[in-house]
Amino acid sequence: MNKWPDEQKNQLSSERDVDLLPFNTMGISVPARRFVAVDHVGLLPRLHQKGFLDSGCLVLGEGSNILFVGPVQQLVLHNQIRFLQVVEQNEKQVLVRAGAGNRWHELVQHAVSNGWGGIENLALIPGTVGAAPIQNIGAYGVELKDRFHSLEAFDLEEGVFRTFLAEECGFSYRDSVFKQLEMRRYLVVSVVLRLTLPGHHRVEYSYRVLSDWLEEQRIENPTPEQVCRAVVEIRRSKLPDPASVGNAGSFFKNPVIDQARLKQLKTEFGDVPFYPVDEERVKVPAGWLIEKAGWKGYRKGAVGIYPKQALVIVNYGGATGRQVYQLSEEVREKVLSMFGIDLDREVTIVGSLHD
Ligand code: FAD
Ligand code: EPU
Repeated sequence: MNKWPDEQKNQLSSERDVDLLPFNTMGISVPARRFVAVDHVGLLPRLHQKGFLDSGCLVLGEGSNILFVGPVQQLVLHNQIRFLQVVEQNEKQVLVRAGAGNRWHELVQHAVSNGWGGIENLALIPGTVGAAPIQNIGAYGVELKDRFHSLEAFDLEEGVFRTFLAEECGFSYRDSVFKQLEMRRYLVVSVVLRLTLPGHHRVEYSYRVLSDWLEEQRIENPTPEQVCRAVVEIRRSKLPDPASVGNAGSFFKNPVIDQARLKQLKTEFGDVPFYPVDEERVKVPAGWLIEKAGWKGYRKGAVGIYPKQALVIVNYGGATGRQVYQLSEEVREKVLSMFGIDLDREVTIVGSLHD
């Protein structure tokens, strides 16, 4: 078997001044000075040898967690590496290796229809498989790290491939080592997941909204397929579809605060929703803070705060990245002055704010 299923491909071509509008879910139009579609792994060493990678790169998947605030001066490497292999299988589990350019939700659908369990709670998350480890995607009680085996990445500086095992990735809530500046030199080319086979699933449905939904439908002991369907319906009811309204999902992370701070907030604001993180700390929904600060449904020209979920900043059409950024800063400042909590952005800002 070929090490990479697409070894036969051979084209290398780059384009200049490409509008990134179709390549980000926020719907922002900015030029990329130079753009290469990476549709096979073998292209990467060639790009390195020919010096294309010498002055820095931006690795781009579906642009569903990026806000472009200005032209992109670095070379954009648009990841389109798509393949899927079963690496190993026994009676209990299967190790599946997916090319980083596969769409994440298509991988979830493929898993569910093959009877593989484990990633159904992560259904309908936009983006590519290769971006999933970057912020350790999570939803409805499961994070990527819970199903992760390893990944292979190309070192854009040294021009070599490297394997990372789970313990080397530093996964935590919406974070991994790959978010650190010096680790952006790695382009993830494939991800290996450990999934379960029928009779051995450990279906996770303790997340409140999910268990309530299943209970309403009178579903006990749900299958991965039923959880997948539930998650898809719940998500459709509260999150905007980027095909209709530009957005990048949650703009901020949910802040983690200590018990003492929670107590103060409760005294001041009454019933504050929270989720325990450990004995000392809790996570407070940023959407609640933003709603309480009066932003939910706010609109100014082309930008606004989604009326059904205050954690989502939307582009109703034609907004610039800077307008979105400006609104996010106003929201952040108001939350800080009202609650003393400084929200941390989940979305990656790309481009200069000062050109
Ligand atoms: P991009 O936005 O293209 O890139 C994101 C970052 O990863 C960038 O820094 C980029 O340089 C880097 N990157 C991308 N691909 C690679 C690669 N192959 N190698 C190295 N670096 C790479 N996220 C959640 O965790 N949970 C959710 O429930 C969730 N819901 C969402 C709902 C909506 C409607 C939207 C629009 C977004 C949501 N997100 C969610 C955020 C987003 O879908 C994820 O972060 C996703 O993994 C981003 O994938 P992408 O391919 O679009 O990455
Ligand atoms: N809430 C409000 N008002 C709002 C929105 C939320 O009061 O406008 C409060 C409610 O109490 C609600 C609670 O916040 O019960 C939680 O809301 P929701 O279930 O919508 O989840 P979230 O905490 O806002 C997080 C993730 C999502 C993920 C969901 C489901 C973060 C930053 N966001 O949102 O991930 O899909 O949980 O697990 O952790 C993303 O990362 O882009 C993303 C969408």
